[in-house]
This record gives sequence, C-alpha cells and structure tokens, in this order.
Amino acid sequence: MISVIIPSRDRPNELLTALKSLELAKHEMEALVWLDDDDPQLDKYKEFFDSDPNVRVFIKKRVGYKDSLIMLNFLCREAQYDWILQFTDDAYMDNPEWFDIFKNFVSEFEPTNQPVVINIWGQGDPRLNLFPIVSRKFIDILGHYSLMYACDAYVQLVALGANIAYNLNGIKPKHRKYGGDENPLEDETFKQVEKDRVEVNNQKPWRSPYRQMIRDDAAKIISYNMSTDACKNSIRIKTVGFIGLGKLGLPIAEAIKERGFNVLGYDIRNIETSLPLAKSIKDLVKKSDIVFCTVQTPHDPKFEGDKPLPKARTDFDYSYLIKVIKEVASVDKKTNLIVISTCLPATYQTKIKPLLGNRINYIYNPFFIAMGTVVQDFLNPEFVLIGGEDIATIKHFYTKFYGRDRTFITDITTAEGIKVFYNTFITSKIVLGNMYGEFSHKLGMNVDHIYEALSRATHRIISPKYLKSGMADGGSCHPRDNIALSFLANKIGSSFNYFDWTLEAREKHTQWLADLFIEEITKNKIPGIILGKSFKPETDLQTGSPAMLLANILKGKKIDFQHYEFDYPEQLPVGVYFIATQHKEYANLVFPNSSIVVDPFRYVEKRNGIKVISIGGNI
Ligand SMILES: NC(=O)c1ccc[n+]([C@@H]2O[C@H](COP(=O)([O-])OP(=O)(O)OC[C@H]3O[C@@H](n4cnc5c(N)ncnc54)[C@H](O)[C@@H]3O)[C@@H](O)[C@H]2O)c1
Repeated sequence: MISVIIPSRDRPNELLTALKSLELAKHEMEALVWLDDDDPQLDKYKEFFDSDPNVRVFIKKRVGYKDSLIMLNFLCREAQYDWILQFTDDAYMDNPEWFDIFKNFVSEFEPTNQPVVINIWGQGDPRLNLFPIVSRKFIDILGHYSLMYACDAYVQLVALGANIAYNLNGIKPKHRKYGGDENPLEDETFKQVEKDRVEVNNQKPWRSPYRQMIRDDAAKIISYNMSTDACKNSIRIKTVGFIGLGKLGLPIAEAIKERGFNVLGYDIRNIETSLPLAKSIKDLVKKSDIVFCTVQTPHDPKFEGDKPLPKARTDFDYSYLIKVIKEVASVDKKTNLIVISTCLPATYQTKIKPLLGNRINYIYNPFFIAMGTVVQDFLNPEFVLIGGEDIATIKHFYTKFYGRDRTFITDITTAEGIKVFYNTFITSKIVLGNMYGEFSHKLGMNVDHIYEALSRATHRIISPKYLKSGMADGGSCHPRDNIALSFLANKIGSSFNYFDWTLEAREKHTQWLADLFIEEITKNKIPGIILGKSFKPETDLQTGSPAMLLANILKGKKIDFQHYEFDYPEQLPVGVYFIATQHKEYANLVFPNSSIVVDPFRYVEKRNGIKVISIGGNI
C-alpha cells in the first residue's frame, strides 16, 4: 500500500525506531532506505535491516542534503506501491491507529489514476508539509519527485499550484527536530544538515529558478487532469445559468465566467454586471445547460442576532426559492437545477419535491463560503457537496472547473443537514472559546495559552476523532470532568453552564435510546437484551459507561431486560437486542429470525429475517 522513502545517515537506532513505529509488515508497506557508502555505522544498519523483507537498503555514493532530490528521486523510482511517503529517520509515528486513519482517508482516491498529495503534517496549514504522501500518478506525470533540494516544500508547492493538495488531520508524526519532542536529536547528522541548509539557502535562493520549475510541474498535472474522461465529458456544458445575482450568486457567476464558461444571469432586481442577462427565468432555462439557483432564503429581521432573540424559533423563508422552482418547473425542458440557497434538512422532501414535476433534476449544492472571501472560498473549496441522484452532469461541471474531482456526494436531505451543521459546528467552537475566555477571566488563566495548547491536540481534538454518532460519552475521565466543571461554573457564576448542558445532553440522548428500545420491546412483545457493559470496546471498564446508564434508566422505568457483555447464551433467544458497546464480535452474532437489533453504531449488517435499526443510518 505505501512505500516509505527515507534517506538515513549515521542513525541506525533512530531508523529502527522510525520503521518500527510504521509497522511495515502489518500494513503492507515497504521502506526504501538510502545509505551513504561512507556511513560510519553501515555494519549496524546491515545487522538491523538485512534480514527484514520489508526494508530495501540502497548503499550509494554520498550526495548530502544539498542534493537530497537525487536520493528521493532515486528511491521513488524504486518504490513498488501506489502511495509514497517521504519520511525521516529522526521521526516516528506515536499514534498506532495512524494507518487506519490514512486508509480511511484515501479509500476514495485512485492513486494510479489521480495525482494526489496528502499533507499529514500541516494539520490545517496547507503550506507546511514535512512528510508528504504522494500518489503513484503524481510521480508518473512528473517523471520525478522533486527538482529542488527541499523536496517536501517542492512537492507541496506543486500540489497547491495544481489544486491537488489534501490535508489529512489526525496523524502528525513526532519529529525530533521540529515536533517539539521532549527528546530532540541534535547529533552529527543534524548539524551537517543544518550547515548545508544554511549554505544552500544562501547560494540558491529557492524562489529562483525553482519558481518556474514548480509552475511547469503544476501545469503538467493540471493538463493531465483536464485530459481525463471526467473533464472531457463536461465539455457538453456550454452555458451556465444563474438565477439570483445577490451577494453569493453574482461573484460566483462572474468567477465561473472568468474560467471560460458562458454564463447567463437573471435577477428580479436591476443588477450592475458585465454578465449577459436573460429576459426571464424561462428564457434563462431554455438557453442554459445547467441552472444554478442562489436566491435568498431569509429569516425575519428579529432573528438577525443583533438584538436578544425572541423565545420562538422559526424556519427560513422559502417563498423566493419556491417561486423560482415553480417557474423552472413550468418550462418545457429537462433541466438540471442546482440549488445553492440554504435549506433546513427535510425541506426538499416536504416543500420542494412536490413542486418538481418530471422535468427537473434537482441537485442540492450548498456552498461553504464566508462573507468577505466568497470568490476565494469558491475557487478553493475544502470539498464540493452535492446532494442528489442524477449527479453526473454537475460532477462533470465541477471536475472540469477544478481540474479534478473534489465532490462529496450524498442524498439531498443529508446535504441539507451538512450545510447547516457545518455552520453551527463553527458556532460551537466559538461558544467553547468564549466560555474558556470567561473562565480564564474569572480564575486567572490565560485563554490564549488554552487555545494554543488545545490546537496542538491534533490527535483527539483537531481531528475527525469523536465526531461519530453512537452512545453517549463515557469512561472514568470525561463525565467526571464535566461534572466537576459544572460545579465550578456554578461557583464562579458562569454566564452559561456549558458543562451542565453536556451532562444533560448525555442523559437525554441515552433516555431517547432507552425509549426507542422500550417501544420495540412493547410493540413486538419479545424480550429486551442489552449487549455490552463496558464504556468502550478496548476496555472492560464499566465506570461512567453509557451502557450501564442505559441499563439503569430501564431499571428505573421497571422494564425487564437481560444484560450481557460476553457471557451471552450460545443459542441467542428471539429478542430486541440493543448494542450498547461496539464490541467487534457483536457484529458477527447470529441473531435468530424475527429479532430486532438496535445499533447506535451502524456496524451490524442488515440481513434477512431480522430487522436492524441503525441509528442515524438513513432509515
Ligand atoms: N452570501 C453568502 O456568502 C452565502 C454563503 C453561503 C450560502 N448562502 C445562501 O445563498 C442564498 C443566497 O444568499 P445571498 O446572500 O446571495 O442572498 P441575496 O439576498 O444577496 O441574493 C439573492 C438574490 O436573489 C434574487 N432573487 C430573488 N428572487 C428571485 C427570482 N424569482 N428570480 C431571480 N432572482 C431572484 C434577489 O433579487 C437577490 O439579488 C441564501 O440561501 C444564503 O443562505 C449565502
């Protein structure tokens, strides 16, 4: 799966640590090591690696840091796998699940067809990419890895220029040089490289002639991407229509025109623009191959947020959107209607679908764009969200527009949800930040240090970890910390007791699952069986376990049920099973016919004869 390219000098022990941490054999990986023929510790290297089938050592004439591109280009040529990771002998992976995170992330790429550069180091800062992982296609297109001595920087600049850079959070190797490791390595190799680095930076300022080389390499990748079938197919989109030329629609329509598309706009207001304008929605629909709709879905000004909000809560106003949809539906033409306007989840199902008729292919394509950076955000999206079924045309459009496929495809209702959850996720971060600020103010802490420290927690906090849906938070640490902080929030008179709120949410979520379980037991008149007692699969600890909380809620309601961890009977009875801990073996249990399985983790496969209720898994 991955070839690791890794030059090493005078550091056999450190290389051993680095390679052990990667667990080459376990993960179908090979390491290609460049050693200098004058290395003082060649024998030690041989002793460590000669008999390791996953390590291929190349002993070559020394070239040194100033020509490190020679080493890495050579190792790349020898690499066998489809992903190539540039690593160093003074680094190691300190999170054993790094490979699963990587594998999950790359599952949607085709490394032999798509040029891709993955940044595992920058953790959100796209410029830093100390340990790039590149796809095989990247090397095939360029014919080399780097043309500059600072190979990681070169690869990343090409990737940014060609729009093929992806940030993968959740893996950040410990680098004993830069990673703030408690055990920095300042040996002879370090000193030599630092000396060479200063010298070479003085001699060959990297902006020139490397700048042109980077541009040329980026151009090669863009031109390859533009030649792919997905891009070529999108040529059939000649005219792009835009209904609603407001704060979002107008700059986006103009940006699309800038990229060489014919764009036709329409607005009910008089708009100052160089875009050609249609006479009516009908006129625009007739002349366009795809039609974007960016009309407003406003809220009442009393919900603007500049004054304290009324107690009532209300949906957006969809009247502008509905009016447009009715007009588009009345035109006698099959139309790809791409709606960008913000809608709450289930708007499509309840308000829009009934209006469509059979000529509109409705696609929901919300933008993740901030006021002030509309065009930049559109041109450099984190991903392009598309909700719909017949998505081929819009996918072709975006593939052509961005030079590669950046789409994330789902159903319309889920896309409606992702849009508003994205924005409110940001709000949640702000709420947390401000709460830390208030605590800091009242207790004499430094909130900026809190921010800086937590921002370095790229394993558990600034990463996809814990963002999954399942059972409530548990264990011997999290709930108790929330309880104690909720006490402290009361003590200092915090303006909002956030921690109490998390505890309430934890209990209410479990209560909701208990009610769902009880409903199935009552409705089907079969026994209830909870599987799982520990708070998470890797442990047998039951302290703070949401599985035990569920059981206790049921006991409080005088519900009869059986409760097992691994001591369940060999022959399982017909029942309503609630999987309360995500133990792997539960997924393979043979549930008798007519049983019901409530699965908050969505890992039990649907099968004939039983009903699996996967919580949140698109019922
Ligand atoms: N502005 C942003 O940065 C941004 C970002 C993400 C999402 N959105 C969403 O995009 C949608 C549009 O936002 P906006 O800020 O551009 O709103 P806006 O009010 O600035 O623009 C809407 C435009 O649609 C026009 N319009 C209304 N009815 C029309 C009709 N029947 N035919 C033609 N034109 C019509 C209006 O005259 C107006 O010019 C909203 O749902 C918003 O939530 C906006």
